[in-house]
Amino acid sequence: MSTPHISANVGDFAETVLMPGDPLRAQYIAENFLDDAVQVTGVRNMYGFTGTYKGKPVSIMGSGMGIPSMSIYARELIVSFGVKNIIRIGTCGGIGTDIKIRDVIFAQGASTDSNVNRARVRGYDFSAIANFDLLLNGVNAAKELGIKAKVGNVFTTDTFYQADDTFYKDLDKLGVLAVDMETAGLYGVAAEYGANAMALFTVSDHVITGEATPADERQSTFNEMVKIALESI
Ligand code: ADE
Repeated sequence: MSTPHISANVGDFAETVLMPGDPLRAQYIAENFLDDAVQVTGVRNMYGFTGTYKGKPVSIMGSGMGIPSMSIYARELIVSFGVKNIIRIGTCGGIGTDIKIRDVIFAQGASTDSNVNRARVRGYDFSAIANFDLLLNGVNAAKELGIKAKVGNVFTTDTFYQADDTFYKDLDKLGVLAVDMETAGLYGVAAEYGANAMALFTVSDHVITGEATPADERQSTFNEMVKIALESI
């Protein structure tokens, strides 16, 4: 059974799907972390794989960038392929003064400049939050791996290139840790269709200091985050 954006059969996806933004990262995870991984979809090169990690079935699929792309794939995975848990593994821009590049951040909640979640509640505010058990398991997995992680509110923006960067300073004052482009959409879709979702990131750049992770270090910090996500399942 295929959907407009996923060409796969019911049963091809595990109950838990890890979603990096980049489909080639999905392929990298499948090849380097999973056993017996097979590709289950590849429409528009948005690759999805299913295999096992320490004997447990798990799938990995790219989400693309931004709320619309993430929302399409998350909805189809949940509604048409029976996926129960989606864990976003991505990068974010640090906002807080105590946030450093390479830090690991868990999105307990996701504020947004997008209208998608307000549209879900007749124009009112909707608190887009992580599933508590997924969050707790993730935080515990990070602890067990000896990786310090921060947990809090993030801001999901539709606008990577902000016209007015003083906005980030306002978010900092409100205790927002970081900015990404997908999490509020994922949390809204999971709430709407009755699934569980959680997002964790590594800080690839800092939107106030301008610092960025050197390209050669990105892979190792990414690997740490993948380890946390897989161990948390
Ligand atoms: N993801 C990583 N860095 C980001 C940034 N600066 N803004 C939005 N999303 C991001």
